Amino acid sequence: MTGAPSTALEPRADRPAGAPGLLVLKVGGSLLSDKRHTGRTDYTAIDDYAGLLAGLVAEFPGRVVLVTGGGALCHPVGLRIKAAEDDPYAAVALTEPAFLMRWAWTTRLRDRGVRAVPLQVTSMLNESPDGTTTTETSVVRRLLDEGALPVLSSDCVITARGSLRILSSDDVPAVLLDLGLGPVRVVALTDVAGIHTGDGPGSPVLAHLDPDDMEGARRLFWTDAWDATGAMEGKAEALAAHARRGAECLITRGERSAPSLRHLFAPLPTWPADTPRTLIARRSPAPPLEDTP
Ligand SMILES: Nc1ncnc2c1ncn2[C@@H]1O[C@H](COP(=O)(O)OP(=O)(O)O)[C@@H](O)[C@H]1O
Ligand SMILES: [Mg+2]
Repeated sequence: MTGAPSTALEPRADRPAGAPGLLVLKVGGSLLSDKRHTGRTDYTAIDDYAGLLAGLVAEFPGRVVLVTGGGALCHPVGLRIKAAEDDPYAAVALTEPAFLMRWAWTTRLRDRGVRAVPLQVTSMLNESPDGTTTTETSVVRRLLDEGALPVLSSDCVITARGSLRILSSDDVPAVLLDLGLGPVRVVALTDVAGIHTGDGPGSPVLAHLDPDDMEGARRLFWTDAWDATGAMEGKAEALAAHARRGAECLITRGERSAPSLRHLFAPLPTWPADTPRTLIARRSPAPPLEDTP
């Protein structure tokens, strides 16, 4: 991060052990639109989730960043971008539908009194020709210091070769891992309860995925032709990369009629027992031998 360091918000002094200092909440496009059939965006779903977000931000101001999935608006554009192999700037087309999603959230959040501000990740991530990557997130940090809610989404970003590529919304938390607000939890709400280990919606979910050993999980994934970003496999790979950088990442089902999202800030062992989820995080180091009973 570059720019003048902000001092308004510090890592939460009252943070219970195991609770995050910053929550990056990704709301999956599958909860906000029908990617499979009608291709419609469900603005009433965005409205319901905006209500839940408003409650969360009121309780934890400056501790939440929203990342919206693109859903039915963005995936068809993503597929067209992938087909336009001879145009190195084709990915700029993602800007329009991604902004429509961010704006849909922003208007509904503002209706509820949230200081929501949509931001373009294109201007935050720079993959330099020398292979290094730099992020510029001082405005994100400043907005958090002011108690605002940054609203991010998938975007196009400049690559080391000077072309543009799609950055999937599941990859976006990568720019938010060094904001200096304490441990980062990334929660991906989606239309399934986690990574299913068997067939069918009722199948159990993987409780824990080791971000350093993804091989065993690869056989569990499938994808659909309409999907531009690899569905659950793309999500798991993206979250594993965040976890290798120290984030605690969770995949769980979003419920638009849930009473609140407060538990997303609670230490994991205190989450409701009836909430299935997949945790992607490095395990805490084992205690030294003399401490084990
Ligand atoms: N092992 C798996 N467990 C659960 N879902 C899977 C798995 N493999 C593929 N999927 C697909 O991934 C989808 C969730 O990813 P995705 O559609 O990208 O969600 P989102 O819109 O929330 O980003 C599920 O609806 C399912 O169709
Ligand atoms: Mg997806």
